Amino acid sequence: MAISLFSRNKNVVLARCREDHATAMRHRYSPWYHAIDSQQGTTVRLDGRDMIMLASNDYLGLAFHPKVVEASAAATVKWGTSTNGARPSNGSRRFHIELEEKLAAFLGREACHVHAAGYLSCMAAIASFAQRGDMIYADKNIHSCLWDGIRLSMATVERFSHNSPENLREVIATTNHEHAAKLLVVEGVYSMEGHIARLPELVEVAEEHGCFTVLDDAHGLGVLGPGGRGTAVHFGLNDKIDVTCGSLSKSLASTGGFIAGSREVIEYLRTHSRQTIFSAAISPSQAASAQASLEVIQTEPEHLERLWRNTRKYKAILKDLGLDIWNSETPAVPIVLGSKERAYPFWRALLEKGVFTVLSIAPGVPVGKDLVRTAISAMHTDEQLEKIAEAMAYAVKKL
Ligand SMILES: Cc1ncc(COP(=O)(O)O)c(C=O)c1O
Repeated sequence: MAISLFSRNKNVVLARCREDHATAMRHRYSPWYHAIDSQQGTTVRLDGRDMIMLASNDYLGLAFHPKVVEASAAATVKWGTSTNGARPSNGSRRFHIELEEKLAAFLGREACHVHAAGYLSCMAAIASFAQRGDMIYADKNIHSCLWDGIRLSMATVERFSHNSPENLREVIATTNHEHAAKLLVVEGVYSMEGHIARLPELVEVAEEHGCFTVLDDAHGLGVLGPGGRGTAVHFGLNDKIDVTCGSLSKSLASTGGFIAGSREVIEYLRTHSRQTIFSAAISPSQAASAQASLEVIQTEPEHLERLWRNTRKYKAILKDLGLDIWNSETPAVPIVLGSKERAYPFWRALLEKGVFTVLSIAPGVPVGKDLVRTAISAMHTDEQLEKIAEAMAYAVKKL
């Protein structure tokens, strides 16, 4: 009896996988999961052709920087390939502590903790601090890792309109929160839209209501603020943000994540965060690449200068073609086509012309905002920007 019940349940799940419409469509149109054969900077080889990578988040172009590559390889030789466990179990390594101290100093915070993925860090930045009975106010366009952190926390969540301090104020005013601890969750730079958070006004509302403020700055770190110190420093608001979390996989040319804040907040996280206690620590090579990138950012300002120069050039190309970039203010640049029937051929035309981008369609983006997401790197050359301009002009004709 028990066995037949089990097999019926299992068949339900297997049928769900087998008959899934989204998976069938993904196989039919193949927009994602391309197998790239090789990469050198912003050039990738796909199906025997060299293509320009316009979808990577290597904003400063450091993933192939000789100092970063060398540090990463040397760390593997010295420390091996893996940490093989979580830090409370088999220990922190000296390089974890060094990276955390350097990152905290760079961000102007007392302390920092690093994880093996940004997704983990951002989840932990909420799930470790919020509890059942608390109120979380979240921008409706935040990344899925933040939503997962919210869900795990069991707190009550209220969404407010994207990047709208006015709506945040209204939402707080109309929710019953008198005895609840309150948190505000926003991003510094919204990865899909390229918008910069209206942090001064958002933080003002948060202060009025005593919100613990969590800022995901995955796309602001290395890009905004003096020397790339991120969105909070850009606005001079570091002291108003309780926790900054983010990823090491964008400007820091590694993989992994971080949470930075006051020492007491980070120490609390180390005691209570399940994502921290029960997940293997960031590997030697990951930590070394992030630390070397941090060093390069501080000693070679030309990468940040070139990133913004390329961003201006690229946006001028898109503007001349009349493309809608959703008012992106950063190197993360969406091209909004408005429906999957327009976004798909546009994306395909770019691929045909040797430009690799990401197709992003609803429900991954709001309905009516189906888009092709692109991101500029300091490493794109003028010649590549010219090729991108030609490919964009070709794709526009295909609409
Ligand atoms: C805003 C934001 N937060 C967090 C993450 C997660 O970072 P990671 O890819 O390092 O896990 C991402 C990555 O896409 C992101 O865009």
